Amino acid sequence: MRRKIVAGNWKMNKTLPESVALAKDLKAVLAGQCLCGVEVVVAPVFTNIYPVAEELKGTGVAVAAQNIHQKTSGAYTGEVSAPIAKSAGASKVILGHSERRQYFGEDDALLATKVDAALAEGLEVIFCIGEVLEERKANKHFDVVESQVKNALFHLPASAWQNIVLAYEPVWAIGTGETASPEQAEEIHAHIRKVVADKYGKEVADEVSILYGGSCNPKNAKEIFAKPNVDGGLIGGASLKAEDFKAVIDGFKA
Ligand code: 13P
Repeated sequence: MRRKIVAGNWKMNKTLPESVALAKDLKAVLAGQCLCGVEVVVAPVFTNIYPVAEELKGTGVAVAAQNIHQKTSGAYTGEVSAPIAKSAGASKVILGHSERRQYFGEDDALLATKVDAALAEGLEVIFCIGEVLEERKANKHFDVVESQVKNALFHLPASAWQNIVLAYEPVWAIGTGETASPEQAEEIHAHIRKVVADKYGKEVADEVSILYGGSCNPKNAKEIFAKPNVDGGLIGGASLKAEDFKAVIDGFKA
């Protein structure tokens, strides 16, 4: 089902006590508030998934991993697999983030195997796509996101799309304070939905939630979330303070 989702990607921020404190703060600011059908997700670093998930038990806030390895177990020093992340309390995983692509060399072919590993373990995948500035300037952004979706996700059967959420994150907008305009977001989200529809049909495409990410904050969330093809946000900086994150979630309120 197409859902409204606001997910906080904490990236490589917050020590264990700081993560627990943020989860406590979030619990406090959301207590008694109507989430009004908005799903809230937070993605701490691996070591902090368990305590954050424990802290948020019963609140309805879900916990995601920021990455997983494509294998389930074995001699892969320093890596964390889908079953391990799930056993710590993650029900979702962010895959394909531009920082993973840029700094860790993750390409579409590898990401396809990570998607399979996540889905096999019953983790929902928040799959990130988005162009760099040069690609936008060259008017290639539509083609870039299309090939990212095709290469990493089009091997999946239609039924698997129930557990896929897409996150459009233009790389030039991540952590820069520069946001895609609501119109830019809407135009490319509509394109992404069409790409999915052309392969899997309108029914599957209409059900996929497509989030926007890239300097989304309390000031601009409402206008961006109001667009018909924007189903929520993947939030970096503004998810690191409970009040700010709540204000982004409130962007869905009338
Ligand atoms: P910022 O909200 O800090 O721009 O980060 C967006 C992002 O990369 C979320 O995954």
